Amino acid sequence: MRKKIIFGNWKMNGTNASLERFLETVNANLKGNDVVAGLAVPFTLLATGEKHAGKVKIAAQNVHFAANGAYTGEVSIEMLQELGVKYVVLGHSERREMFNETNESVNQKVKALLAHDMTPIICCGETLATKEAGQTISFVNDQIALAYKGLTADQALKTIIAYEPIWAIGTGKTATAQDAEEVCRAIRQQLAKLYNETTANGISILYGGSVKPDNIKELMNEADIDGALVGGASLKADDYLALVDYK
Ligand code: G3P
Repeated sequence: MRKKIIFGNWKMNGTNASLERFLETVNANLKGNDVVAGLAVPFTLLATGEKHAGKVKIAAQNVHFAANGAYTGEVSIEMLQELGVKYVVLGHSERREMFNETNESVNQKVKALLAHDMTPIICCGETLATKEAGQTISFVNDQIALAYKGLTADQALKTIIAYEPIWAIGTGKTATAQDAEEVCRAIRQQLAKLYNETTANGISILYGGSVKPDNIKELMNEADIDGALVGGASLKADDYLALVDYK
């Protein structure tokens, strides 16, 4: 059975001091109900994050696929490894929208991370227009097929997916548990087509988009939702603890 995984995503927020306080509070109060707790932080906070991680898995929010070179402003996998980072969020809709992240670049980064025994958290999700056109599942399944292009089943098993409908991110308009389950189930069916049932059932699929302490339990009760990727409600330690200790 897949363990539940709850990752916060601080996006471009926080300081080293606030992160240290956050992690001290979380580690002192985490009930640890067999939920995997994680937090994605900006590059500048990763060293502090790994130093004070305790029971919390620390993730970067992006990475470049090249080992090094003329990529001003970018950060390589080896640079993340030097900090002890093992998880990287890839293809977040904000990076796709504002920073030219594509399905192809996500696929390149997934392969590079797996080659370094690191875990990609691969984001997918549709716009409101796509949803209203009834194209959600075909759109998301195309994202998944392209993100997993060239990956073996064994490699796919080392990944995590985060389905984040763009219209639910930061809006307070959470997808209903039923709607989120429908898409996560479709993603699992797509994985079964790309690989096989066993592999599909071995990959964790998170939901993200206005997850809060008052709606997480209903979402986590769904068969194909294996956790959450949470933005705004992960910024404060009390809210984060309410999310991770939702059981
Ligand atoms: O990566 C998680 C994020 O996109 C969701 O943000 O604020 O809607 O929980 P939020």
